[in-house]
Amino acid sequence: MMERGKAESGPEAGSANIIVAGVAVYLQKGDITRQRVEAIVNAANTSLAGGGGVDGAIHRAGGPSIMEECNEIRKQRGGVATGEAVYTSAGRLPATYVFHTAGPVWHGGKNGEGRLLAECYRSCLQLAERLEVTSISFPAISTGVYDFPKQKAAEIALQTVQKWLNKHPGKLKEVRFVNFEEENHRLYLEVLQSLDI
Ligand code: APR
Repeated sequence: MMERGKAESGPEAGSANIIVAGVAVYLQKGDITRQRVEAIVNAANTSLAGGGGVDGAIHRAGGPSIMEECNEIRKQRGGVATGEAVYTSAGRLPATYVFHTAGPVWHGGKNGEGRLLAECYRSCLQLAERLEVTSISFPAISTGVYDFPKQKAAEIALQTVQKWLNKHPGKLKEVRFVNFEEENHRLYLEVLQSLDI
């Protein structure tokens, strides 16, 4: 159940837009902290201790309450395992929730990195379903500091989300893939074409 077309009512003119099982999927270039969606995903680390990249940007823009909630989660359950996701509120950000997932560090690809990256996307979508979130934005998890090859990561992100949406019709209406870097944004567009999803 897929349609492909130009974004007509999408968040940004010229964005790619496909419909997967009734859910609008957008590929966008931009800063995820500015996204007006219910949930934005943070490419965090297992200790939820903050860092650089998208994690740093989210904590800087969202303010200290996000880290306070992360500290609480760390106390209660010791952080988040690679591939899992937990949530906090979004502080000063326009989103309602931040979903914190820890992506795998790339160690050559023979250590389950692909499976764990797919697990990150599924965990966030499950959380969205549980919280009855209707819109979610993903960054390119693991493709910065964690060094996951960008093309492979884009394939996993798009395929995993497509499969999950087809299997879980629900309240979700919109999924966005938000890339800060032009290179990664282009890759997503190319992968979308080549995967025929
Ligand atoms: N909006 C969208 N994407 C962004 C933003 C932003 N504001 N800032 C960075 N990115 C992109 C990067 O260009 C990269 O493609 O997010 C992608 C993921 O990069 P990282 O943030 O480095 O995340 P990751 O590779 O998963 O490494 C996680 O880095 O900062 C630490 O605490 C974090 O230890 C964790 C590790």
